[in-house]
Amino acid sequence: MPKRFENILPRRDSDSLKWNVYDADVTPMWIAEADVRPPQAVIDALAARVAHGVFGYTAAIGHLSAPGGSWEYPGIAEVICARLKRLYDWDVAPDALVYLPGVVPGFNVACKIAGQPGDAVLMHAPCYGPITKGPINQSRRPTYAPLRREISFDGYTHFAHDQDAFDAAVEKDTRLFLLCNPHNPTGRAFSRTELQQMAASCVQNDMLICSDEIHAELLLGDAFHIPIASLSAEVADRCITLVSPSKAFNIPGLGFAVAVIQNPTLRARYMEAMQGLVPSPQIFGYVGAMAAYQHGDEWIAAAQAFYTSNRDLVCTVLRTHAPQLLMNRPEATFLNWIDCRQAQLPTNPKEYFVNHAGVALADGSGFGPAGDGYLRLTFATQRAILEPALYAMIESLRPYS
Ligand SMILES: Cc1ncc(COP(=O)(O)O)c(C=O)c1O
Repeated sequence: MPKRFENILPRRDSDSLKWNVYDADVTPMWIAEADVRPPQAVIDALAARVAHGVFGYTAAIGHLSAPGGSWEYPGIAEVICARLKRLYDWDVAPDALVYLPGVVPGFNVACKIAGQPGDAVLMHAPCYGPITKGPINQSRRPTYAPLRREISFDGYTHFAHDQDAFDAAVEKDTRLFLLCNPHNPTGRAFSRTELQQMAASCVQNDMLICSDEIHAELLLGDAFHIPIASLSAEVADRCITLVSPSKAFNIPGLGFAVAVIQNPTLRARYMEAMQGLVPSPQIFGYVGAMAAYQHGDEWIAAAQAFYTSNRDLVCTVLRTHAPQLLMNRPEATFLNWIDCRQAQLPTNPKEYFVNHAGVALADGSGFGPAGDGYLRLTFATQRAILEPALYAMIESLRPYS
């Protein structure tokens, strides 16, 4: 297991949301954020940019050696498009990219351009909390297609796209499907077949698709990611795909994301809706993203191995010592989704583990209608933090086992 991620970093006195919401004796495993330093190239690029000392507005424009010549200094658009081609064999032209200070504003803008106020927006249930808030923020009606839960032969929960539930949830005025792939909180990297089913319904019912793919490069084991827009030109035509280096390279505080919108009419509508509300990414987001995408490949492979071994640790320890907690074995993300209902805890599970184990997890009730009784656990931390937290949870369950 890569040792470079095992040093515990002092985070409490660093304006960290993750580490400062709870008291110092509580281990924070609630927000989807890692406790690792990004690639050294990112830190160096940021330091060089600080030393430059001029912090103007950004422009995603590279320099050509001569008209029609090679890139002397590629702009971020070229770097991102080359990455999408290399990772997913997805052909995206640089002018299809719209720059954003985060993914959350990205799916809110998608809701804003979906039909009229009052129209329906469809999501899977459960789903990442801020996605479920997007339609409400933009005066649209949230509707849900529950994922199908199965129990695998080795006792883990497995969540799958349920086409019947999806079709039943599409209403006359459903204008947008907000997809999260890989899926937060269940850790699914949806298969080509599942994505094709979702896409076919959206084409048939003339719905836009906004796909939040922020976790795309957080793949565990041998999992792989398929951007839904890469399925076909017909699907791409109705897609807004949100990509960002912030989860995979652990730079969420830098605030950088991109909406890939290949249909020029849709892109123009989207950019118009951003006017006056959504600023460009700031300079450090731009510099951090550029360095991560250009120089972070070896780092990301090591980070994936680190998260995979943490996933295996959490799954083995909790399945062995706390079988009353039914849990998934994620294919992507650094999140476990834990069903606590069989544990019959005397209070809300989140409060229970904060008060009796000193471990803060995210309350499942924040993940849409299918989240009650669940907790989400972020395992992207050092083993010296993770292991004691898991055993404190197990110990706290003793009166109920
Ligand atoms: C699925 C998903 N989308 C978006 C975000 C946040 O994106 P941003 O910080 O770029 O707005 C998160 C953070 O946890 C996430 O898990």
